[in-house]
Amino acid sequence: MSIKSPEHIRTINPYVPGKPIEELERELGITGSTKLASNENPLGPSPLAVKALRKGISGLNRYPDGSCFYLRSALSEKLNVGSSDIIFGNGSNEIIELAVRTFLSPGDEAIMAHPSFIVYSMIVQALNGKSIMVPLKDWRHDLEAMASKITDRTKIIFIANPNNPTGTINTCEEMDAFMEKVPDSVLVVVDEAYYEYVRSGDYADSMKHFRQGKNILILRTFSKIYGLAGLRVGYGIAGAEIINDMNRVRQPFNVNSLAQMAAAGALNDQAHIKKSRKTNERGMKYLYKGLMALNVHFVPSEANFIFVPLKDDTALQLYNDLLKEGVIVRPMGPRAIRITVGLPGENKKLMEALKKISPL
Ligand SMILES: Cc1ncc(COP(=O)(O)O)c(C=O)c1O
Repeated sequence: MSIKSPEHIRTINPYVPGKPIEELERELGITGSTKLASNENPLGPSPLAVKALRKGISGLNRYPDGSCFYLRSALSEKLNVGSSDIIFGNGSNEIIELAVRTFLSPGDEAIMAHPSFIVYSMIVQALNGKSIMVPLKDWRHDLEAMASKITDRTKIIFIANPNNPTGTINTCEEMDAFMEKVPDSVLVVVDEAYYEYVRSGDYADSMKHFRQGKNILILRTFSKIYGLAGLRVGYGIAGAEIINDMNRVRQPFNVNSLAQMAAAGALNDQAHIKKSRKTNERGMKYLYKGLMALNVHFVPSEANFIFVPLKDDTALQLYNDLLKEGVIVRPMGPRAIRITVGLPGENKKLMEALKKISPL
């Protein structure tokens, strides 16, 4: 008799990772391609992180510090939050998983927007929960509609702010009104993976809700502006009771030692953060201008990527056409692509490829 996974596992749509760039190039017979697909920092990691990594390599025979002591102290000082209000994860992805494993029982509901970060629904399904998908309104989270979906079975609400894949934000006023409607029995997970890129003065202040003692878990990451996606380190901020419960299901050595050292090095590298933000802002402006000149509709973004909705089911075709020109973007379903802002030369290459391929 062969072993069989339960129905809720068998029906998960697996996350399809992109092929390694070298493999794609070999298949297409091209070199020097440009990856604008995963919202990474095109400038690379902070030099202070690289320096810390060099120092840390010789200690790899030891297990990592399971409490992330030094990174925790540095972060708690920087954010002015208690050290017991922070949890670290193998990327913020792991913290999403820890939150679901901690607070959701089979049959419970999690509310999330659609389209939003795909990992939320995958994890909810893996734990045999039910994802309640609420369509975006004008490409933004429709917080009123999301609040109206709360039932006795709701345990978690996910809000990506800025949202991936649209790059849109929810405002202070919207979030304040929303938090008033959420009962104490529900955890609001505010995923701020792109927090450091936001320019809008209206951006919701999640830390205010945390300080007011609301049931909120704020997620941030070292994968984006800090340029450490390959090392996998993210963190969550919440009241100590929430964090304590999540620590019960966390593996003792979930964040590797190099990740801890690099993150601590990158955390206060203001010069690298500033340069990264500037590079993104300039790139974004350049791409807006280029897309407008080509008459391509896009959604203005507060993050480091741009969502381009298409009129027909041409996303895969466009993705393949761009691939042949050596530019890798991310198709988002049949009718949209997402483009990560790159370095000036990379953005130029994308625009030239789009010009060549047009009409979109
Ligand atoms: C909205 C959002 N949340 C979380 C993540 C995951 O980040 P990490 O690398 O910290 O797991 C991403 C990565 O793309 C994201 O877009």
